[in-house]
Amino acid sequence: MNKIIIENVCKVYKLGKTEVHALRGVNLTIEKQEFMGIIGPSGSGKSTLLNIIGCIDVPSEGHVFIDGENTTRLSDNRLTMLRRKNLGFIFQSFNLIPVLTAYENVELPLISLGFNKTKRQQMIDKMLENVGISEYAKHKPDELSGGQRQRVAIARALITNPSIVLADEPTANLDTENGNKIIEIMKHMNETMHTTFILSTHDPRLLNYIDKKIFLEDGKIIKTENSN
Ligand SMILES: Nc1ncnc2c1ncn2[C@@H]1O[C@H](COP(=O)(O)OP(=O)(O)OP(=O)(O)O)[C@@H](O)[C@H]1O
Ligand SMILES: [Mg+2]
Repeated sequence: MNKIIIENVCKVYKLGKTEVHALRGVNLTIEKQEFMGIIGPSGSGKSTLLNIIGCIDVPSEGHVFIDGENTTRLSDNRLTMLRRKNLGFIFQSFNLIPVLTAYENVELPLISLGFNKTKRQQMIDKMLENVGISEYAKHKPDELSGGQRQRVAIARALITNPSIVLADEPTANLDTENGNKIIEIMKHMNETMHTTFILSTHDPRLLNYIDKKIFLEDGKIIKTENSN
């Protein structure tokens, strides 16, 4: 279950008269519980590919299948449900809501899914503990360090127990200690909850944990490496 098939995905951005070919025919199969890394230089298309897999962006050509369902053909309502229930996102820039506390940021996806207040509190308390920021529950993002913010973002992505987590450079801008903690949290979730992780990274610390590496260059996969 939760197999992802990416079939000939192309993405062209039009900027006035120029066209930017961000992805040029990407083919890829991602199995359940894979801990996969997308590696490539700046501008190679890593974020674009993650956004398309996560149904936040649509390909110009080609298709993405999740559990055999063609996500490029789903209605907006079905897509929203798929995103809320199955997909978790950790963005390059965290994307936390500045006026909400850490607790409230993590609470948002649960409100969307209709969990009641008591249940939400149980789930959030446990998750904040898991990522080691219980004592910062009442802090707003600008009252937190980069590593703590990143942990809030991870808590928010994982709180709905998604089957697939997409993480765009999740350890960028983190010091070694925080970076390692974040990696351990993700790997633990990957092993215990069978969550699929698709990450983009430059981080050599993270590379050691990755089962399958996809090397992207100029919008194309140039190499695939399996470490087991
Ligand atoms: N909304 C957009 N409009 C126009 N061009 C875009 C847009 N988003 C991305 N691009 C272009 O598409 C290409 C791929 O961008 P993308 O953000 O996927 O790269 P990346 O590999 O994630 O880079 P980085 O490591 O710097 O985050 C780049 O040339 C970029 O300038
Ligand atoms: Mg990027």
